[in-house]
Formats: sequence, structure tokens, C-alpha cells
Amino acid sequence: MASLKIAFVGAGHIARLHAQNVAALPDVEVRGFCDLNAERAAGLAREFRGAEAFTSATELYDAIRPDAAYVCVTPDAHGVIEIEAARRGIHLFIEKPQCIDADVGRRVEAAVREAGILASIGYQNRYRRSVERARELLALEPPILALGHWIGHTYRVPWWSDKRVSGGQLVEQSTHTVDLIRHLVGEPVEVYGRAARGFVKDLPEYHNDDASAVTFTMPSGCVATVLSCCANVPGYGVGLKIFTRSLTLDFTGWEHSLAVRKSALESENVKGEENIFAKEDAAFVDAIRANDVSKLRCTYADGLKTALLTLAATEALDSGRTMRLDAGEPPPEALRAQAAGG
Ligand SMILES: NC(=O)c1ccc[n+]([C@@H]2O[C@H](COP(=O)([O-])OP(=O)(O)OC[C@H]3O[C@@H](n4cnc5c(N)ncnc54)[C@H](O)[C@@H]3O)[C@@H](O)[C@H]2O)c1
Repeated sequence: MASLKIAFVGAGHIARLHAQNVAALPDVEVRGFCDLNAERAAGLAREFRGAEAFTSATELYDAIRPDAAYVCVTPDAHGVIEIEAARRGIHLFIEKPQCIDADVGRRVEAAVREAGILASIGYQNRYRRSVERARELLALEPPILALGHWIGHTYRVPWWSDKRVSGGQLVEQSTHTVDLIRHLVGEPVEVYGRAARGFVKDLPEYHNDDASAVTFTMPSGCVATVLSCCANVPGYGVGLKIFTRSLTLDFTGWEHSLAVRKSALESENVKGEENIFAKEDAAFVDAIRANDVSKLRCTYADGLKTALLTLAATEALDSGRTMRLDAGEPPPEALRAQAAGG
């Protein structure tokens, strides 16, 4: 089998993890790393035999001619990196959030579609056994209520606390929970919410909501609330509960272990995988080898719906208005006009 050449744009924490996973797969070569920070790119390149370092994505693409590139940059840096890859026919794995600006997301979506490349978005929870099981159960009985939370402290990278770079906690972090709500509960038609601000005074360069509560409503009438907080030092963790008439589905922890309660006597447990990224990376490599998009659990267009939803929810927090969404595909200009006009 011919080796698959893989390169990385963005050489930070998550790039290292994905690189280690793909390097462990048969007939895959990790060939290059690009980062604006030359030392970071060189440092990661030294960890993978035969890999080179770059500070420009296009130079990396033209020098290495990879079959696929992982885009693991800060959330504000997406756009040209993906469009230039698509123009060259390079398949993409893009870490969430794929954009913090809706126009960037739409332009990349068009470039990916026109080039016919595979593009996978890093919503790794969709690959979990617990999530697969929940989908089976929820296909039999509609959800009535969902309650998600992501409550803790700021993430360890310096850019995270600046909403202008990260998009804010809802866009960068709780997006995983919003994505699961779309994947398991349905496509929201409306979102509203409130943010808490001004409680964190001891962190430099902190431009963020401290907490938020947003509620999505579904065409069925089901409601789903997501609570986010990055201002709580002890932390409370990650979770999602989904309630139907006869079932309570309770995902707990970053690994999304699932406990299903069916009655007072009957229950079922599915433990969450620890390195779910390995499963997600193997699926991406498989999809490329088979040229089969169905092996991807979240394509660019699908992930864009989640990204646009979190952007609409952020707009609801900032404006205090209820944002109506169009079948899960909110066109942001329409939403802005709607918000301006009431
Ligand atoms: N799926 C998950 O659970 C998960 C987990 C962690 C991080 N992430 C996502 O991965 C992305 C990266 O996070 P991280 O923790 O690795 O951050 P990081 O700060 O460790 O790495 C990001 C790197 O991108 C580089 N960069 C920024 N703009 C660039 C550009 N134009 N060209 C090349 N390099 C550029 C930065 O210099 C930095 O080294 C973020 O979007 C984050 O949300 C996803």
C-alpha cells in the first residue's frame, strides 16, 4: 500500500496528539509541521523522523505535497490555510471551532465542496460508543429535554481567554456539547440566553464571558439548555443529560461515559474511551484511503452548522435577543438584520 503523507498546520498541543496517533498507523508518514512560531514547528518536526518545519502553510504544501493536512491553529486563523489546501487537492482534518466568523466558514465550505476533497471536523465525541448507543436509543423515542454543562476554569493556552481570538467558551469549548445536541437531539430553530460578566478580575488579557446559559428549542418543542462557565476554579466538569418519556441518558466527564436509566430497576452503562482522538484519526485515514466520505462522522458542512449555531448563540448573549434559526443553518446576515429590527 502506498504511504499516505500527512502534514500539520499549527504545531501546538492538539497537533502533537494527532501526529502521534497517525504516526502509529501503518503506511502513514508524518512529513511536516508549519507554525507561525518557528521554534514550535522545528520542535515538533524533531519528534517525527523525516519531518520538516515551515512557517508558511503554502510553502509546506508546495514542498511536501501532502495527501492530507491537519489544521490545528488558533480559532481566528482559519480561512486561507484551508482554501489553499483545497486548491491543491489536499484532504483536510480541521480542529473545531472551524471558524469564529461565519463568512470565513462559508468561503471554506465552498472551496472544500468545489475541490471535492474530504474534510473532517474535530468533533471527536461523535466517534464514541456511548454516543452511538444514545443515537440508537433516541431513534426509538423523541427527546423532551436536554441539559448540558461545561463548567470549570480557563483552558491552558494564552489565547483562550480572549474571545476575539477563541470566539469565547461557547464557540471554542461548549461547542462539543452543542454539537452533541445537534447530533442526538435535533436541529434547533431558536436560541436565547444570558451571560455573566465581570467576576474574573485577577487574570491578565482576559476578555471573555465568565459564564452563560443558552437555551435552544427544536421543531418538536424539545428544549435544550447549555450552561458554560470558565470562572470557577474548583470546576464541575462536562456533562449532558437527555430526557425522553421512558429514558434518562446521562453523559458524564470529558470522556462522555453514558449511564442510561430505563426504570428504577433497569440501567445500562457505556464507558467513554480515553484516547478517542485515535479512533477519529484512524477514521480520517481510512476515509482518505477508501475515498469514502461516509467514514467521517462530521464533514465540513455538518460542522459548520454547529459553528454557526454557537455564533448565533453568542449573538443572542451579546444582544439579549432571541435568534430564530433556519432549519439549523442560520444565515448570519439575516440574523443580524433580525436582531437589529427586533
Ligand atoms: N477537539 C478537541 O477536543 C480539542 C482539544 C484541544 C484543542 N482543540 C482545538 O485545536 C486548536 C489548537 O489548539 P491547541 O490546544 O493545539 O493550541 P496551541 O496554542 O497549543 O496551538 C496552536 C498553534 O497554532 C499556531 N498558529 C496560529 N496561527 C497560525 C497560522 N496562521 N499558521 C500556522 N500556525 C498558526 C500557534 O502559533 C500555535 O502554536 C484550537 O482550535 C482548539 O480549539 C481541540
